[in-house]
Amino acid sequence: MRFLSYIQDLTMKKVLFVCLGNICRSPGAEAVFNAMIRKNGLGDELQCDSAGMAAYHVGERADYRMRQFGLKRGYNLTSISRSFDPGHDFDRFDYVIGMDRQNVRDLRSVARNENDRKKIYMMTEFCISKRHESVPDPYYGGDAGFELVLDILEDACVGLIARIK
Ligand code: 4NP
Repeated sequence: MRFLSYIQDLTMKKVLFVCLGNICRSPGAEAVFNAMIRKNGLGDELQCDSAGMAAYHVGERADYRMRQFGLKRGYNLTSISRSFDPGHDFDRFDYVIGMDRQNVRDLRSVARNENDRKKIYMMTEFCISKRHESVPDPYYGGDAGFELVLDILEDACVGLIARIK
């Protein structure tokens, strides 16, 4: 039994979504990706989590606006903000995906070696039907920013699943 779970763990692909505060974009990505994992019956193959490069909101639930806009599309955002931990997260995850260029720069600056660096991606690399330079930070903006984040995340998560499979 323990051997079986060891084998399952080896074949499981693990994705970490990373933004600045871990209260808007990366928790949104986590909820969208989890919904797609469930919908496609991929629970034995894919797993995800999210984290932030800054610790301002550690221990908090996702921003209420992100939760509300997510819920309107059927996504339940349950994550609690935590900081990215380079000492463990690069070992625990296969894909470490930043939401914007600064997230990717910050991830690269804490990568310990080339193996870590190879795991770093930009979320919009996986978009299939829209071209976006980044997932823009919605925190200081209005409602449209949150809808745009979800539009990009939905598109990128479809592409990400296709890429991993
Ligand atoms: P996130 O958005 O990186 O998508 O979670 C932000 C949340 C909080 C702040 C900035 C961005 N902040 O400055 O507190």
